[in-house]
Amino acid sequence: MHREIQSFVRRKGKMSTGQKRAYEQLKEEFCIPFEDKTLDLKKHFGTEEIVLEIGFGMGDATWQIAKSQPDRGFLAIEVHKPGVGKLLARIESEEIQNIHIVEYDAKKVVNHMLSFNDLAGVHIFFPDPWPKKKHHKRRIIQEPFLSEVLDRLKPKGYLYVVTDWEPYAVHIQEVLQANQSIRNVYDGYADSQTWRPETAFERKGLDKNHNIYEFYYLKK
Ligand SMILES: C[S@@+](CC[C@H](N)C(=O)[O-])C[C@H]1O[C@@H](n2cnc3c(N)ncnc32)[C@H](O)[C@@H]1O
Repeated sequence: MHREIQSFVRRKGKMSTGQKRAYEQLKEEFCIPFEDKTLDLKKHFGTEEIVLEIGFGMGDATWQIAKSQPDRGFLAIEVHKPGVGKLLARIESEEIQNIHIVEYDAKKVVNHMLSFNDLAGVHIFFPDPWPKKKHHKRRIIQEPFLSEVLDRLKPKGYLYVVTDWEPYAVHIQEVLQANQSIRNVYDGYADSQTWRPETAFERKGLDKNHNIYEFYYLKK
């Protein structure tokens, strides 16, 4: 049987009591279950300006960006349950209305639930670098998934990717440059966008003195 290569392993770590409570009480309202059916994003968010985030981790950047951009909707995907619980708790404490979460494999969500030319932007912050050569096939930023994501972007929509892992940065640059449907807004690496807060994994990278590599491309 053909088994699809996954870009994640479920991280260990239990939910805290607060995360569990938030998960139980708020998932109905803010989580969208995976379905093999196209999502009507406008119906969920009440706007056509939707940004997708793949792998939000604990959601620190997610809620801050959503709060600072209230006219946009943020569809946030993650498989790490404690992260989902934590983001739900933030949605509650910060009184945020413009985030919806899908707790499922982003590859499947993009493929089955998102329509072509529908997204204003895509965020992929600190994707798992999979440093060992035998694991490179697990990296989420590669074809054909990249093209599937870009198909969902509207013309002039943006793709914003950030990593602290230099060999992955080189790989990301290669695959983005090879894709004819997008153009780099910068010469080479992008400037950090002023509205992007630091993420948890970024902090870990900075603590190890890693450089941060950013990519900001627009769909043609
Ligand atoms: C290195 S962490 C970065 C998290 C966060 N963006 C940050 O910067 O702190 C990558 C995250 O992507 C998630 N992830 C990887 N592949 C995924 C997929 N196919 N679908 C959903 N989440 C995924 C992992 O569970 C993990 O939490």
